[in-house]
Amino acid sequence: MISLYFSDIDAVLLVKLIYLYSGILQIMSQTAINPDSFYQLIQSRKSIRQYTPKPVKKEIIQKILEQAAFHAPSGKNRQNWRFYVVQGKKRDEYLQYSQKSWLGIKDILKKTLKPSLYDFTERFFFTLGDAPVIIFAYSQNSAEERHYTSIGSVYMAVQNINLACQVEGLGCCTMGAPLEIKNEVDKFLGVDHNENLELLCAVVIGHPAHDPPKAPRKTEGRITWWE
Ligand SMILES: Cc1cc2nc3c(=O)[nH]c(=O)nc-3n(C[C@H](O)[C@H](O)[C@H](O)COP(=O)(O)O)c2cc1C
Repeated sequence: MISLYFSDIDAVLLVKLIYLYSGILQIMSQTAINPDSFYQLIQSRKSIRQYTPKPVKKEIIQKILEQAAFHAPSGKNRQNWRFYVVQGKKRDEYLQYSQKSWLGIKDILKKTLKPSLYDFTERFFFTLGDAPVIIFAYSQNSAEERHYTSIGSVYMAVQNINLACQVEGLGCCTMGAPLEIKNEVDKFLGVDHNENLELLCAVVIGHPAHDPPKAPRKTEGRITWWE
């Protein structure tokens, strides 16, 4: 009966089309994410500055780095990010550095933060909110790449870390404060200066122990349209 409608060539073509269509569907199902879930993920992320003592599994940190950070775009695809993961005793030792970095920031924050938030922030710098993990993000700079391109590439990876933490049920806070004591941090981590590495930030990670209000977003004057 089928032969009434399809020649052999039509049948082969039909099979090929079905095959192609199922392939496309498969690719779509691998990459398609519900847009609402995507925007919700981005908008639900917020900086966490208090953590429970629950440790974070090494495999999770590895997954966050290898399956999220490493997939960020980078100028000339140099993948010039370098990460130093600090946990355990070494993390405890870092607290004295964090306290020192506070000295470089506190005067500005005294003027801009209300007293309760200032006190909270000071406590955070002294304890890092008990976060069990600190990832230091470095850029490997090169004379063959513009400085800002190298820097921007690493921050793209850092944002991926932020979002991956969110889906893993972890909290994190990106910190520029270690830049106040850049050279000391380099020494603390054993960073080799011959490799042209530049510290950009730290990301503290752990299981959230608070649910701070979402920091309000400004929209005014942020976009210029030309059409
Ligand atoms: C590059 C960078 C540096 C930051 N440095 C610090 C820091 O040193 N200490 C801190 O508590 N938060 C730091 N933050 C977090 C910001 O304060 C926070 O992202 C901002 O207030 C918006 O809040 P949200 O992350 O909850 O949306 C930093 C964020 C970025 C992106």
